[in-house]
Amino acid sequence: MKTSDILAAFTLQRGTDEPLFRQLYGQIKQAILRGALGAGMQLPPTRELCQLLGVSRQTVLNAYDQLLAEGYLSGTVGKGTFISSHLTLDKQKKRAPRGLMRPLSARGAAYATAMARVKFHNGALRAFRPSMPGLDLFPFDIWSRLEARRWRHPDHHMGYGDPAGYAPLRELLCVYLRASRGVNCTPEQIIITSGSQQGLYLLTQLLLAPGDQVWAESPGYQGASAPFFAAGASVCTVPVDAQGMDVDFGIRHYPDAKMVLSTPSHQLPLGVTMSLTRRLQLLRWAEANKAWIVEDDYDSEYRYTGPPLASLQSLDRSDCTVYVGTLSKVLFPGLRMGYVVAPPALVEPVIQAKAVLDRHNAIVPQMVLADFMAEGHFGRHIKRTREAYAERRQAMLTGIAAHLDDELRCGPSDAGLDLCVHFRRALDETRVVHAALAQGIEVRGLSYFASPVAVPACAVDPGLLLGFAALQPAEIAHGLQVLARVLRSQR
Ligand SMILES: Cc1ncc(COP(=O)(O)O)c(C=O)c1O
Repeated sequence: MKTSDILAAFTLQRGTDEPLFRQLYGQIKQAILRGALGAGMQLPPTRELCQLLGVSRQTVLNAYDQLLAEGYLSGTVGKGTFISSHLTLDKQKKRAPRGLMRPLSARGAAYATAMARVKFHNGALRAFRPSMPGLDLFPFDIWSRLEARRWRHPDHHMGYGDPAGYAPLRELLCVYLRASRGVNCTPEQIIITSGSQQGLYLLTQLLLAPGDQVWAESPGYQGASAPFFAAGASVCTVPVDAQGMDVDFGIRHYPDAKMVLSTPSHQLPLGVTMSLTRRLQLLRWAEANKAWIVEDDYDSEYRYTGPPLASLQSLDRSDCTVYVGTLSKVLFPGLRMGYVVAPPALVEPVIQAKAVLDRHNAIVPQMVLADFMAEGHFGRHIKRTREAYAERRQAMLTGIAAHLDDELRCGPSDAGLDLCVHFRRALDETRVVHAALAQGIEVRGLSYFASPVAVPACAVDPGLLLGFAALQPAEIAHGLQVLARVLRSQR
């Protein structure tokens, strides 16, 4: 195709905000970048092009001048104007390879795959999406009023702030954690993070060298292990039984580990709580071996058969436990707010690492959360959701007992937002998950929670994790009917 044919096809619109010469300049540039106008091609003289397009010569001159100045064209107006050969060749070189220009670094490759198995919540909520609090119960009206008030009165906090977080929020969290979880801390020990995910990441970066061993429960929450894989740590999987993480197993198989990631209050997905004997055993071993314990306490507000249990950190007498908490369950995950309670000597390194990563969390959500807590909404929300989730949990247990007792055996149900169930018959988890999805319900197979490096001792009976906290009892009842159909069709 001749150059003039390509240019003749351009459409320039009069009467818009964009001057005609800018439109012409933009279209020639795009044609060069697309490769439609190739290296060394001669553009028509300005007099010819202005007739071709029905615009003034000045319009064409201005467009050519701009393209010459930017290096897309070469030559002199009047002596012939050409598409620059060097520029077009560069563009072609850049377009050709589909892969990366050069491989990722070893660290980059680890990062690029570490979180790949963790699913993100996708689309509208439906039964039985796990790990979700009930958004229908969240007082968004109050939250938006508190937020609007903050926007109306901006102050010096809108500048670069303390990497540890908004001081009044740290104070309020301290009071809350001491009272509800027995956490032994001062406000200075609390560092606000972007979810517990970031807390786990910071601790991994600070405390583990590549190759260092770290115990991780399997099955377990794989998002929490992702920072370990990204850091090149050696993930050592430890089975979980009715008493929680099998500490004996860890000590026998990985005596030199530098860190233990543990969910003593409520294990995901199995729902068990770590016994006092195991907690003390773990603390004794960690103290003697100078290993860190990272206590991931994510949903302990929701205990239906008694008050929340004291944290493992509250039993620690040697400052080896780092407590990591989140607002993802008690408020909602999209808020991306969590905190680390570090032993005194570790506080400053965590604050500095947080500053390296993102300076600090966004200030307004921190202020709004502080107001939400100070005005009593936080406490009321926990109370209200605990009651509602207790009712939803009951709907789940009653429904399973009535319609699915022959198919499912329930795991512990005294805490959390989800219920773990095991198949009574030999069923293929993956087939069940796909069949359920085809019927419009979301269930998570327990194998999803298995570590990719799990040792055989970590195997558990096949089953599902079913979220109930985010669903109204009627949705739970309907979802269970669908699940019953799905399971009965698996012959
Ligand atoms: C065991 C466990 N820890 C922590 C979290 C929360 O992570 P975040 O605070 O990053 O949302 C989850 C979320 O599902 C979880 O299951």
